[in-house]
Amino acid sequence: MKQAFQFGKIVGQKNFINRKLEIERLHQNFLNRTHTILISPRRWGKSSLVKVAAEQFVARHGNYRLCYIDLFEIRSEKDFYEKYSKVVLGAVYTQFDDWIEGVKKFLSKITPKIRLDLQQEIKFDMALDIRKETEAVGELLDLPERLAVDKGIELIICLDEFQNIAELPESMAIQRLLRSVWQKHQHVTYCLYGSKQHMLADLFNKKSMPFFKFGDLFYLEKISPKEWINYICRQFRDTGKTIAEPFAGRIVTDMDQHSYYVQQLSYYVWTHTEDTVDEKIYDLAVTQLLQSNTILFQKDFESLSRTQVNFLRMLLDGVTEGFTRGEILERYELGTSANVAKIIPQLEKKEIVETYAKKVSFSDPAFALWLKQLFS
Ligand SMILES: Nc1ncnc2c1ncn2[C@@H]1O[C@H](COP(=O)(O)OP(=O)(O)O)[C@@H](O)[C@H]1O
Ligand SMILES: [Mg+2]
Repeated sequence: MKQAFQFGKIVGQKNFINRKLEIERLHQNFLNRTHTILISPRRWGKSSLVKVAAEQFVARHGNYRLCYIDLFEIRSEKDFYEKYSKVVLGAVYTQFDDWIEGVKKFLSKITPKIRLDLQQEIKFDMALDIRKETEAVGELLDLPERLAVDKGIELIICLDEFQNIAELPESMAIQRLLRSVWQKHQHVTYCLYGSKQHMLADLFNKKSMPFFKFGDLFYLEKISPKEWINYICRQFRDTGKTIAEPFAGRIVTDMDQHSYYVQQLSYYVWTHTEDTVDEKIYDLAVTQLLQSNTILFQKDFESLSRTQVNFLRMLLDGVTEGFTRGEILERYELGTSANVAKIIPQLEKKEIVETYAKKVSFSDPAFALWLKQLFS
């Protein structure tokens, strides 16, 4: 039987809820060669959105080519340049011989090692000493533009988990270099995205930073309850099962519309259901979700101070603003208003809550549900 729900990997068209407006915005940016900076908390759906939008776009516009680089795997400046060249070459040349030609023509200053392995995959290493070879680095960063011009094509370069650039040694110098080269590109559009919003906001919003005002800064929102409910009901129906709308609604509310967790809980409900979802099945699925995390949640909970716990109780009661009002401070025993101002960053650091679009909420809706059960 086909699997109705997916989580933990980038979702393709089949499990993807439309996000029409967001896709349209990305398409407009690709078309107008406007760079995009896309931000949201983890697992809301950035990587999936960029993949679906970009693939749709290149399917419609034959002269565009796509490159993905996940900076999660990048540990050094050299890593980054190698991956960048490799991905760009790979997007333009599909044949081994063309690769060699391309490297000779466009990367004259580096000494690449290219070989075909047994699976006929092109392996590409290069002997690049970045300290000595700043010129080579410049040449390499310019590679997509020069290839695009040579081939009469346009490139879209997607850089996932871009905030990792800030973790590299000498990050400021690297950022300055990237910006200075990239801003001259006429046929390459960059889409930079990632999850650590504080770090990303620092990279793009601070006047003193090289990437200040680099492109269209775009904060992703959650998928609406209505769209989730339609999707959940449809996926059940398409696999010969039934879920009544109120149950689908409960999945969405309990998981706070969080993309990853809505898919995960839906999946558990779906696997326990033979024909139709009922109360017992729903509870079983929630228990399964919470049990798989209990040890982790227990540990998180034990690390909390009394006032931090009180603050979380307040969030669970649905209070999402006006934390410093006298009545709230008193009811939840939060101490002084200065104290509350400290609790939020403390909890953010523990990755228990996050502030997004000025709203404080639990990072993990399953943890919120676990706490709710603990307090009830
Ligand atoms: N548009 C969508 N429709 C349905 N599910 C989605 C969508 N976007 C994300 N998801 C769910 O959320 C999970 C995390 O998505 P992902 O794109 O990896 O998020 P991010 O890149 O923001 O961390 C996916 O595995 C999928 O289960
Ligand atoms: Mg991602």
